[in-house]
Amino acid sequence: MGIEEQLTGVLAKAVTDIDSAESVKEIEAIRVSYLGKKGEITSILKGMKDVSPQQRPVIGKKANEVRDELTAVLNQKKERLEKEALQKQLEAETIDVTLPGRQVKKGQTHVLTQIMEDIEDLFLGMGYQIIEGNEVESDYYNFERVNLPQNHPARDMQDTFYITPDVLLRTHTSPIQARTLENHDFSKGPLKMISPGKVYRRDTDDATHSHQFHQIEGMVIDENITMADLKGTLELLAKKMFGEEREIRLRPSYFPFTEPSVEVDVSCFKCGGEGCNVCKKTGWIEILGAGMTHPNVLEMSGVDSSKYGGFAFGLGPDRIAMLKYGVDDIRHFYLNDQRFLTQFKRKG
Ligand code: DAH
Repeated sequence: MGIEEQLTGVLAKAVTDIDSAESVKEIEAIRVSYLGKKGEITSILKGMKDVSPQQRPVIGKKANEVRDELTAVLNQKKERLEKEALQKQLEAETIDVTLPGRQVKKGQTHVLTQIMEDIEDLFLGMGYQIIEGNEVESDYYNFERVNLPQNHPARDMQDTFYITPDVLLRTHTSPIQARTLENHDFSKGPLKMISPGKVYRRDTDDATHSHQFHQIEGMVIDENITMADLKGTLELLAKKMFGEEREIRLRPSYFPFTEPSVEVDVSCFKCGGEGCNVCKKTGWIEILGAGMTHPNVLEMSGVDSSKYGGFAFGLGPDRIAMLKYGVDDIRHFYLNDQRFLTQFKRKG
């Protein structure tokens, strides 16, 4: 068979191959097998050396035609296959924009965080700093530096989680008093701070006890601070928490870090003072402890107690939230049951 016939035959075979190809990859393989260096057409053309010089241009022309034809058919099929693949992909990836969306549940601020943020706002507005302390504290700062030396009987009031004999989980936010006092530069102005945070007690959890709860410590130290300043400040706090019509009263009490110490009651926000189940018929509800900072606390922090003095207070946001919203079990705050938490939507 002459070279021309061979070329025609190969072209026909190649076209059949191309017809049955199903992917771009197959097309490329066919291209190589016919037109590549070791391809069928190339090897046929190697027979040119036996062809007479007159015949050569004829066969050369034929070879070019076959090559061109084959390339055109290959490209055409390749293009078609690529289009089909794209079409398939587009169909597979179509998005049905009419499908209803999945609802994203929006979280909200925890009720205790709400209360703490409200209190922070109030005090920030009066020029207080907010100071955060460590939950892991030393025995020294937690007790000694707030005037509770080793073996002081008042230590029994706070059952403590000890980590080592000297390190514990703070039982109250009062160590912040000492930590702030010792760092304060009174030449730059008075010390006014609050410190919100978690505290820990080795209590068995029940409706009114939680091994972890919250406190907000407050302290103001300057020259000429009196108990009237304390009372005015706490009155503002009580009104902010429980309503403008509230009043407060101070009862004598004992805390090691204050002298004198007081317990602070707010007039009942439910009955307005007449007596009901919330105030246990007394018209008053205890909300926090406070007092005038003990000179020992100042002196141990290097503050001259003959020149500087002031007040401190400590309140429990958990207790405030329980009173305010009639929550009968402190554990609700820590179980994270959505049915409970979603009831406290912050207004505005
Ligand atoms: N640290 C006290 C407690 O945990 C609360 C307290 C009472 C803090 C009176 C004070 C204060 O700063 O003046 O029981």
